[in-house]
Amino acid sequence: MVRVEHITKQFSMRHDHSLKELVFSALQRKKLADTFTALHDIDVTVHAGETVGLIGFNGSGKSTLLKTISGVLFPDRGRVLLRGRVAGLIEVGAGFHPDLSGRENVYLNGAILGMSREQIDEKFDEIVAFSEIEEFIDTDVKYYSSGMFLRLAFSVAVHTEPDIFLVDEILSVGDEPFQKKCLARIRELQHAGRTMVIVSHELEMLERLCTRILVLRKGQIIFDGDPVEAVATLRATS
Ligand SMILES: Nc1ncnc2c1ncn2[C@@H]1O[C@H](COP(=O)(O)OP(=O)(O)OP(=O)(O)O)[C@@H](O)[C@H]1O
Ligand SMILES: [Mg+2]
Repeated sequence: MVRVEHITKQFSMRHDHSLKELVFSALQRKKLADTFTALHDIDVTVHAGETVGLIGFNGSGKSTLLKTISGVLFPDRGRVLLRGRVAGLIEVGAGFHPDLSGRENVYLNGAILGMSREQIDEKFDEIVAFSEIEEFIDTDVKYYSSGMFLRLAFSVAVHTEPDIFLVDEILSVGDEPFQKKCLARIRELQHAGRTMVIVSHELEMLERLCTRILVLRKGQIIFDGDPVEAVATLRATS
């Protein structure tokens, strides 16, 4: 379903070096590091129907990997092969326009995620009902709270009925009732045989939800397998 083949992703560091740094590096004949390897030779396959968790400390490369799978970023080496339609909730509000109302953004975001106008018309009421922000649907989203943003974004994403659902650390923004509702929805997708990759720092939640967890450390996979062991592995890492 998702085949990640030996992916390496580097970023260029665009910081300005001070004159002092430049002089020192010249004196020491040392090259100043100008690239940073965020993902190092990642090779992983996610099978249809699996719910895979992705855990690791801040900056370990989780979001970069998810963005590479969704096609937002291109790897420098390796490639990603996908079978099916991907819908990702990579960042809260990605694909939302601040100067448009909630209603307009549902259409914009739905279109970005590959829905036709008719499909969105058909699902519109359901999307709004799930988000529970009916009252504010005609307000510009720049006036939304972060939780309201999340509610609408999550609601659009789950209603696109993706084959592969990518979720990046978003559930924590919602309040407890909405988190429960999202989890229930994720379980429904699980039972319907959808494939999911979920990034979160809520380790207990992932332990319960996932069939398998990958642990990333400094851009490399250091564990791939049983959820309980994965969480223990991360906790034993420093
Ligand atoms: N566009 C970019 N340009 C430069 N560096 C980047 C870029 N995107 C990510 N990085 C770097 O890549 C590394 C991995 O970042 P990433 O966002 O994937 O981490 P993460 O595991 O999602 O962390 P978090 O738990 O904080 O969300 C970080 O060091 C980050 O600074
Ligand atoms: Mg991240």
